[in-house]
Amino acid sequence: MSKTKPRVVVARAVYPDVLAQLQTYFDIQANQDDEVWSPERLIATLRGAAGTLTTGSERIDAEVLSACPELRICANMAVGFNNFDVPAMNAAGVLATNTPGVLTETTADFGFALLMATARRITEGEHFLRAGRWTKWSYDLFAGQDVHGTTLGILGMGRIGQGIARRGAHGFGMQVIYHNRSRLSPELEADCKARYVSKDELLRSADHLMLVLPYSPAAHHAIGEAELALMKPTATLVNIARGGIVDDAALARALREGRIAAAGLDVFEGEPQVHPDLLAVPNVVLTPHIASASVPTRRAMAQLAADNLVAFLVHGKPLTPVNPE
Ligand code: DGY
Repeated sequence: MSKTKPRVVVARAVYPDVLAQLQTYFDIQANQDDEVWSPERLIATLRGAAGTLTTGSERIDAEVLSACPELRICANMAVGFNNFDVPAMNAAGVLATNTPGVLTETTADFGFALLMATARRITEGEHFLRAGRWTKWSYDLFAGQDVHGTTLGILGMGRIGQGIARRGAHGFGMQVIYHNRSRLSPELEADCKARYVSKDELLRSADHLMLVLPYSPAAHHAIGEAELALMKPTATLVNIARGGIVDDAALARALREGRIAAAGLDVFEGEPQVHPDLLAVPNVVLTPHIASASVPTRRAMAQLAADNLVAFLVHGKPLTPVNPE
């Protein structure tokens, strides 16, 4: 007697070969047009499914879980998992997995690219040139801030934060300071050439502040009016972590009033919407949540999310769980 395959919902488009792998194990229902499903459509599609491959766009909360009692695993194609209500998943006995490790270096590369573009005003200069406004060399044309030899502050010192620290210390001769929930081991601090400081000291001393902490309710508006007021007027702020960690309205005010020099933002409160005040200021570099978006890394993320579904639903043991079963 042939066993029926468990049903798995692939909630967003993924690489066709990864989808094909999943089809050998599961009865797959895939999001063909890659539109982000409404919560109602997500629930309707997930009913009866044993697993789902999600991205940060699909919210898995108590409402979804109670409507989909057969769900056993949600495999996020992201290292962040703030789209999951983990306590509700624990209560429902639903496993959550993410994709740590495979995107660390790519995301750290992008953090540095955004820092360079922001401090050195690269996109402002490009817009100026493309608009046909470049008529002569000038001594202060788009003069920005140096990166090499300055103080790099890192808020959040997980794998990606450490990758940023190594690039700054070893590649750019920066003094690296960091603040995190817990201190790194002396070995890791030495490897990253990073010094632990209080959050206030981080804000006051950083020439460039990089946000790399995971989102949690406690991290909501970790950078708001009061924190921005502590920063140097020449400082830059880079957020490759999550929207909501920065109060975008307060940041736009600080940028407009020259209370900090510039910001580079890959993530936004309420994305893909971007606060109109941020769109109105020139000294901000804006990118559409692409820090992990190199082809090899996005493939590796999709593969790991798929592997988690197979590892758990077929073999009983997930590869990278974030919660107890
Ligand atoms: C992550 O992995 O959390 C990224 O933000 C996904 O794009």
